[in-house]
Amino acid sequence: MAGISKTNAEKDTEKLLENRVALVTGGSRGIGRAIAIRLAELGAAVAICGRDSEKLRATADELHERTEGVFWQAADMTRADDVEKFVSAAEAKLGPIQVLVNNAGIGLFGPAHEKSEEDWDRVLNTNLKSVFLVSRAVVPSMIKKGAGDIINISSLAGRNTFAGGGLYCASKWGVQGLSGCMAEDLRGYGIRVSVICPGSVATEFSGHTAKDASKALQPEDVAHAVEAIVTQRPGSFMSEIHVRPLRKS
Ligand SMILES: NC(=O)c1ccc[n+]([C@@H]2O[C@H](COP(=O)([O-])OP(=O)(O)OC[C@H]3O[C@@H](n4cnc5c(N)ncnc54)[C@H](OP(=O)(O)O)[C@@H]3O)[C@@H](O)[C@H]2O)c1
Repeated sequence: MAGISKTNAEKDTEKLLENRVALVTGGSRGIGRAIAIRLAELGAAVAICGRDSEKLRATADELHERTEGVFWQAADMTRADDVEKFVSAAEAKLGPIQVLVNNAGIGLFGPAHEKSEEDWDRVLNTNLKSVFLVSRAVVPSMIKKGAGDIINISSLAGRNTFAGGGLYCASKWGVQGLSGCMAEDLRGYGIRVSVICPGSVATEFSGHTAKDASKALQPEDVAHAVEAIVTQRPGSFMSEIHVRPLRKS
């Protein structure tokens, strides 16, 4: 049908990421699950991890309905040995990772002076150290290929401060700094490092529920931002995307 532009539905089913391999940390549920599903719909082979095998298995079943290449493994992204084993097993099964989404994260809120050292380690290790560990494990393949996308899921809390946000904001401000520096370190190799800062999203995260769930961001809104980044024309990159709900709840 030369000369006739495609409908949105036709464009939607285009496998723009065919032959690409994506890895999504915390891909079992919430935002990570929505991102993994969208990348699979776009044709990518997808690897996911989390600590709960049952949730991973359920999401892997959903991914299998959309793409041929699926790999999942229970792994803790705060542990360097788990990260190394997961990344090498994913690459052995699917091939070199070309899209990395550092999504795994936890929320823990309340005044910093009331938190324990264990709380600090848990939040900082999950939200910030994991980004360092997983990126470090994946970058060699990307450098070899001379291309890749690393997308770090930060938060508007990585740009703002608020009462009770001490540990969480510290971790996400750290993600912002790490992402900006990695972007500079890696752009010369053809690797794009981006950060997405969503507002509050309707997930199981931190047990927090929006006042009006119908007005809250959905995990698919964040997945759409990931899609925009990975389908961006070569030669440029979106370094930071802020995602906000249209209507305030
Ligand atoms: N929801 C929001 O309002 C919101 C807003 C802005 C940014 N974010 C960010 O978005 C990301 C995803 O949040 P979400 O709302 O989707 O949370 P969620 O529903 O609680 O899901 C978190 C995911 O991360 C995994 N995970 C947690 N710790 C892990 C670890 N040590 N190793 C491997 N996987 C781990 C969880 O699986 P297991 O528990 O099985 O390990 C799960 O798959 C986080 O980085 C969060 O900070 C969320």
